Order: sequence, then structure tokens, then C-alpha cells
Amino acid sequence: MTSPKIALITGAGGGIGSEIARKLAADGFQVICVDKNGDAAQKTANEIAGAHAFAVDLAIKSSIEELHEALVAKNLLPTHLVNAAGVFFTHDLVTLSEDEYDIIMDVNVKGIFLLCQILLPHFIDKKYGNIINISSTAGLRGGRGRAIYSASKAAVISLTRSLSVDYGHYGIRSNVICPGLIDTPMADWITHDEPALRNWEKTLSAQRIGTTQDIANAVSFLASENSSYIYGSTMVVDGGGTA
Ligand SMILES: NC(=O)c1ccc[n+]([C@@H]2O[C@H](COP(=O)([O-])OP(=O)(O)OC[C@H]3O[C@@H](n4cnc5c(N)ncnc54)[C@H](O)[C@@H]3O)[C@@H](O)[C@H]2O)c1
Repeated sequence: MTSPKIALITGAGGGIGSEIARKLAADGFQVICVDKNGDAAQKTANEIAGAHAFAVDLAIKSSIEELHEALVAKNLLPTHLVNAAGVFFTHDLVTLSEDEYDIIMDVNVKGIFLLCQILLPHFIDKKYGNIINISSTAGLRGGRGRAIYSASKAAVISLTRSLSVDYGHYGIRSNVICPGLIDTPMADWITHDEPALRNWEKTLSAQRIGTTQDIANAVSFLASENSSYIYGSTMVVDGGGTA
């Protein structure tokens, strides 16, 4: 793929998404930072030369359509799509409300579907595209207090594999990363409890919580031509937690 390489990163105002934006910019990508929290997306973009920021609610189709119109108008259609936005909160299936269920599924799954639906025709036209979805090890196995989050992340893994099967022959690579516990605001539920965190870390081969750089490095590899034969794969980056 010759330049320009343009990466659109969702959740770019968050811990993992902002790190991915910085890493891909360092790799030579032009970066588009997308987040529901427009100020946070702008803060990430402000650190990166030539980056753009957009406030987008991925749970709302019209918000994604507005983003698409803006990208077309600015001649900024991406070559790479990194879906890192997500929501997580511990929950009990019995008491989870339907609205809470919808929030988890709409952001974690439907948002990826809607963005792919809008960008895939452009990728197909160009016979090139690279989709990297951020799932979770929660999508690989059951976990306490996260049944619907786990279901949403399993859906992301399955969706990514199907994207590869359906569109790989157009030169569009789709892969998914499953982070384990990563030190971001989303991991507050345990990072605020030092003894619980130390106990968790002892269960890992790496003996430490993951960093946002651990995930950004994996994204950097999948976004590069060094991974050009990798299609539809599930890359686990969890310090050996599911080994
Ligand atoms: N931190 C972890 O331990 C961990 C582990 C496994 C997987 N993940 C996954 O990694 C991804 C990034 O998580 P993080 O740790 O950086 O969390 P984070 O909370 O720091 O960032 C998530 C970002 O998503 C954005 N977002 C939420 N709802 C949105 C919406 N409707 N539209 C657009 N943006 C929205 C938030 O504003 C936030 O900036 C998520 O998909 C998460 O599920 C995180």
C-alpha cells in the first residue's frame, strides 16, 4: 500500500484508543480521532501533528452518517479502521436493565457494524482496507459480573472473522485483538484496590497488568505490512492470563 495511510480510531479519547492514535501517528499514519467525548478526542488530536478529531456517538446511526459526510467532504476517508471504543461496567444479569443491555451492545457491537457498513464500500472500491477490532479476553470465556459485556466481545470476535471471510478477497484484512486487564480508566474497578490488583497480577505469566502500549504495539503490527498474511486472526494480548 502506498501512502497516504489514514487511520480512523474510535475511542481515541480513552486510554487504549489514545495510545493507538499516538503509536499509529508515530508509524506515519494520518490519524482521525473519534470519540463520543469530543473534548477527549480533541485532546488526543492536539498532541498529534495533522490529526483530526470528531465527536461521534457510535450508538447512533445518524452520528456515524454525519462523520461519513465530514470525512468525504474533507477527503479524509481512512485506509485503516481501529474500533477501540467500548463500554464496560460490572453487572448482574438478573438486575441489568434493558437500557443497560442496549448500551453495551450498541456501543461494543452495533457501532462496529455501522462503521464497517459505511466504510467497507470505500475499501472495496480501493481494493484495500484494514480493520482492527478491540475485543477482550472476556469474549473468549465467561467472567464473573460481565455476562453481557462478554457476549458483546464474543460478538466482536465472530464479526471480525466473518468480515475476513466476506471481504478478505477484496484486499481488506480484518483482525481482532483481545486485551486482558489493561491499566486505563476502564480497569478502575480493580486498579483502585491495590491488594486485589496484586492478587490478579500473580495469576498472569507476565506478573503485571497490561499497559496501553502493549495494545498499541499489537495494533501497530496488524496495521503494518509485516502482518500482510494475517487475516481473520484473534490476537490475545493478556500477559498469559488465558494461557
Ligand atoms: N482496559 C481494559 O482492561 C480492557 C480490557 C479488555 C478490553 N478492553 C477494550 O478496549 C477498548 C478501549 O477501552 P479503554 O480501556 O481504553 O477504556 P476507556 O474507558 O479509557 O475508553 C473507552 C472510550 O470509548 C468511548 N466511548 C464510549 N461510548 C462511546 C460511544 N457511544 N461512541 C463513541 N465513543 C464511545 C469513551 O468516551 C472512551 O473514550 C474497549 O473496547 C474495551 O472494551 C479494555
